[in-house]
Amino acid sequence: MADERWGLVDDYIVDRLIGADAVLEAALHANAAAGLPAIDVSAAQGKWLHLTARMIGARRILEVGTLGGYSSIWLGRALPAGGRLTTLEIDPRHAEVARANIERAGLGDRIEVRVGAALDTLAAMRAAGEGPFDLVFIDADKPNNANYLREALAMTRPGGVILCDNVVRGGRVIDAAGDENVQGARALFDAIAAEPRLSGTAIQTVGAKGWDGLAIAIVQGVA
Ligand code: SAH
Ligand code: DHB
Ligand code: MG
Repeated sequence: MADERWGLVDDYIVDRLIGADAVLEAALHANAAAGLPAIDVSAAQGKWLHLTARMIGARRILEVGTLGGYSSIWLGRALPAGGRLTTLEIDPRHAEVARANIERAGLGDRIEVRVGAALDTLAAMRAAGEGPFDLVFIDADKPNNANYLREALAMTRPGGVILCDNVVRGGRVIDAAGDENVQGARALFDAIAAEPRLSGTAIQTVGAKGWDGLAIAIVQGVA
């Protein structure tokens, strides 16, 4: 199904609009050297996340699923002085690689990596009255997508935005009998549809990371 032109067009987009980036390339190298899976967002998607954060003037960002911090760096770079990104990761080895990458990116003072199962961390954050966040990026274990959406919604301000990665999965999202990751994507669509406080859509993407998609939802209401 994958078309080699998808990757070539991503190369073109990076060449024209993004350019070489030693810090992000070093992060991907460090991830590979540490044996992390190459399931980071693509450069074009990373910049898209970054621009989304800037478009809404995000000062407080929450990320669920850090891996080596590649998307965290893109999002963290969108923060104004005094802004903060909290990113949640279950694997201490991933978190350690991410912290080093984030430090190298000069974002150690703005980005905090918290280790633990994200549902537990989110519950603790909610209990501690953390937030509200302006932007949430959900990109961890897919079966928990709807749970992360629920927790995120409780800590996102009206007008805030919730994004979720990998909701198309090579088109398999339309297979009602799909695997647990497909079920996770479908549960997210159902949860957005059923939640009057959210208005959402999803955009399919092709590129260096194949055929997938990102969901976006805005929290409705007056700030
Ligand atoms: N956002 C990253 C990619 C994240 S990959 C990027 O684009 O650069 C998904 C990450 O979620 C992995 O590092 C995985 O260890 C983590 N993860 C899986 N289950 C989790 C859980 N229950 N809680 C927190 N993190 C989890
Ligand atoms: C997977 C996870 C991701 O976050 C991603 O972008 C691609 C693949 C996975 O678990 O297979
Ligand atoms: Mg992803």
